[in-house]
Amino acid sequence: MIPPNPKVLAIYGSPRGGGNTDLLLAQAVTGARKGGVDVEEVFLRELNMAPCAEDYGCLKNGRCVIDDDFQEVYDRLSSCQGLMLSSPVFFCAVSAHTKILMDRCQSFWVRKNLLGHSLQDKSGQVRKGLFISAAARQSPRNNFDGTLASVRHFFAALDVELWKSLLYAGVDRCGDILQRREALEECREAGAELARLLLSGLP
Ligand SMILES: Cc1cc2nc3c(=O)[nH]c(=O)nc-3n(C[C@H](O)[C@H](O)[C@H](O)COP(=O)(O)O)c2cc1C
Repeated sequence: MIPPNPKVLAIYGSPRGGGNTDLLLAQAVTGARKGGVDVEEVFLRELNMAPCAEDYGCLKNGRCVIDDDFQEVYDRLSSCQGLMLSSPVFFCAVSAHTKILMDRCQSFWVRKNLLGHSLQDKSGQVRKGLFISAAARQSPRNNFDGTLASVRHFFAALDVELWKSLLYAGVDRCGDILQRREALEECREAGAELARLLLSGLP
């Protein structure tokens, strides 16, 4: 069964507006919209979101008890069928904005693993995730490993399959990525492909 209107949530994790990962994710959003799915965008840098307080108020019902903008993100993360996340590589990890989001999503981990409430869509379709990243260094090849390990674990907590990750090395200054037309095109195509996949109803 295909979910009536597959929804995709696009989360921009860079502190820099108009930066490389912003530009790449915007392409994926365009591709997904053209592909026929609804996309909601969230810019983490615009939100008021405190770090996880680790007091496990979420043990009650799987919902974080800190009353800030995360509450709305939590609802959107709960109801989307597709997730697109972008973050630059910062010290071999994700940006601080992205990390705060991840840590607040410990509430999803609790909901799934301690309270036994799966986030899996009722349609039976596995939620699909796209991760986009950029890093200044051209090498080593494992420059993205720390970031990717974190994202994999994060998506798993959300019951989102890491369907594709698009990683761009050697881009540093704001907008450098505009010189890489093939990267922008790849992200747009990935967005369109994600839309096709979600609309296909395939698991
Ligand atoms: C705090 C900070 C830490 C960074 N750490 C790394 C790093 O570990 N490896 C790397 O290759 N680039 C690193 N960079 C460079 C960014 O990943 C790069 O400039 C990227 O293109 C920024 O993407 P954005 O424009 O979307 O923010 C760092 C930049 C900053 C500001």
